[in-house]
Amino acid sequence: MKPSKPIILTGVRANNNIHIGNYFGAILPIINMAKRRSDEYDINLFIPDLHSFTTPIDHSKLYDSILNNARVYTAAGLPLDNPSIHLYRQSRIPAHSELAWILDCFTGFGEMGRMTQFKDKSHKFLDEIDSKISLPTSRQKAWDVVHTGISVGLFNYPVLMAADILLYGATYVPVGDDQTQHLEFTRDIAERMNRKFGERMNYCNFVDLFIVPKPVIQQHQFFGKDQGLRIKDLANPAKKMSKSDESGRGIIFLSDDPKSAHKKIMSATTDSIGKVQYDKENQPGISNLLEILTLVRQDAGREVTLEQTANEYFGMDRYGDFKRIVADEVAEFLENFQNRLAAVDEQAIEEKLASSEKDMNVVANETLYRVQKAVGLRK
Ligand code: TRP
Repeated sequence: MKPSKPIILTGVRANNNIHIGNYFGAILPIINMAKRRSDEYDINLFIPDLHSFTTPIDHSKLYDSILNNARVYTAAGLPLDNPSIHLYRQSRIPAHSELAWILDCFTGFGEMGRMTQFKDKSHKFLDEIDSKISLPTSRQKAWDVVHTGISVGLFNYPVLMAADILLYGATYVPVGDDQTQHLEFTRDIAERMNRKFGERMNYCNFVDLFIVPKPVIQQHQFFGKDQGLRIKDLANPAKKMSKSDESGRGIIFLSDDPKSAHKKIMSATTDSIGKVQYDKENQPGISNLLEILTLVRQDAGREVTLEQTANEYFGMDRYGDFKRIVADEVAEFLENFQNRLAAVDEQAIEEKLASSEKDMNVVANETLYRVQKAVGLRK
């Protein structure tokens, strides 16, 4: 079915190794939001698979990780039979790439070069190269590596993202803080195209080419209560749980064996204060464990708040005992989740993808044709 309500749209990148930080911080809040809002909105939940190789990846694993995302959403409670929720792969809707090309030609080189994520990711790459190659002896080689390693795809990543959003006329686009600049760019390019190609009907009537998504502030207001908690690394609770941490000691993956996850919690970094308390500043490790405990309890269907959990364990002075409680419940969560994942109906997922992709091709092509007309490619 074609969407008939305002659109909430979001993409979560394919990832083979999802950890509880991704799950509780991004995936689960999105699924819950989709369930809660699908009466009033159409929910476009897609896998931006063309964005997957803007930085180097193992391509032999890509196909499976795309499907794995869909499986994880399903195990997280995504109702595949809800006709207002659309689940699709970006690459199966060619209009994304086609619109991205058109938008590319109206996007400034400097504008993209200023994007923080591009600067961060490309600088990180340059630092890696620096540490591997001694300049200036292999200067030419360094130059080559740098220029093949940082792709044009990474550079104009935000343009494809703008196309993802504008094709469907999405009003609300929940994204993490690292993506708000891209959302602002989406608004900029939409407004730019509207000014250049919107159609003036008469003095006061102007038909826009694109629906401009709501400003970031309004997005935050809208999604405020849907935002998930930011789980921290167990070994280093000053930073968030992230797969770029090589040791892996501080990360619990959804695929972890529950026993090894138990061990990771038992060896989580705490503090020398010696009393359980929710105090993020002085006791980040303990606070993180209280958050994790709350989240796994909520996942088990219990209606508890962080505050209630914090009160329940307030003042407990044996960290070992407290950790054992958290470790037991995390292990239990993993066991349950892994069972749910194993029970996911693969065929239902394939069918959902196929039917959403069919519908979304219709919607996306309508927008694409309108744009092609506006820029003079069609009559
Ligand atoms: N760039 C987003 C991320 O890295 C993923 C994404 C791609 C996206 N296209 C999108 C998110 C469109 C929202 C809307 O997390």
